[in-house]
Amino acid sequence: MKLGEKILFGLVGLLVVITVVSFFSLESIRHKSDKPLYPVLTHYEFTAEGERGYGIYQQNGCYACHHAVGSGTSMGVGLDGLGSKHDLNYFVNFLKNPEKTYGARTLDHGAPPKDAAYVSELPEADLHAMAVFLSELKSDQGSSSSFEPPQGQSSFIDAMVEMWTPAGWKAQFTDIRDWMKNNSKEGQHDAKH
Ligand code: HEC
Repeated sequence: MKLGEKILFGLVGLLVVITVVSFFSLESIRHKSDKPLYPVLTHYEFTAEGERGYGIYQQNGCYACHHAVGSGTSMGVGLDGLGSKHDLNYFVNFLKNPEKTYGARTLDHGAPPKDAAYVSELPEADLHAMAVFLSELKSDQGSSSSFEPPQGQSSFIDAMVEMWTPAGWKAQFTDIRDWMKNNSKEGQHDAKH
């Protein structure tokens, strides 16, 4: 072998060794720890109708596109936590009239031949139960489906907000963190700081 080839094969060999060693060491850390890789910031507690709605959701193959309650796919939007973003009424309307309700052009929900067109044709009672189920998928503060940003202060974010916010916005909008402080339930948020 020429010198160049030796160096090349040597480097490739080294990379393979590094990859294998890091894979196994990371895997062993993952299996040793009982903490989830990411914090779970959504929760649910189903009423009888919500529970029934979850069953109907499963029977109708919504999880082929959606992710909720720990299973499904990410083809469509994730549904966990969505009940903190919209109310029951929104879900009833969306399932029945997706194109009118969504506020943007829909991809799968709506009139045929869209792939989820069948959803709005399901029996009214089933749609209602699914809407209840959806409205009971709640998010905690800091989740991407929550209006409330993560707890804690970031001086970096404060500095960026200070630097980049147009003057007009400050008069027009409230910083959600200030809003939360002023609207906290019995000073609940203040107590945490
Ligand atoms: C073929 C894929 C597909 C199937 C099947 C499907 N969905 Fe969807 N869903 C989507 C997509 C994509 C969106 C985003 C809106 C759009 O483009 O249609 C969405 C949006 C939604 C939303 C609105 C989310 C929001 O933020 O407003 C809800 C609620 C929902 N789906 C519930 C369901 C339920 C319940 C079922 C089963 C009865 C179902 N979906 C079946 C793809 C699908």
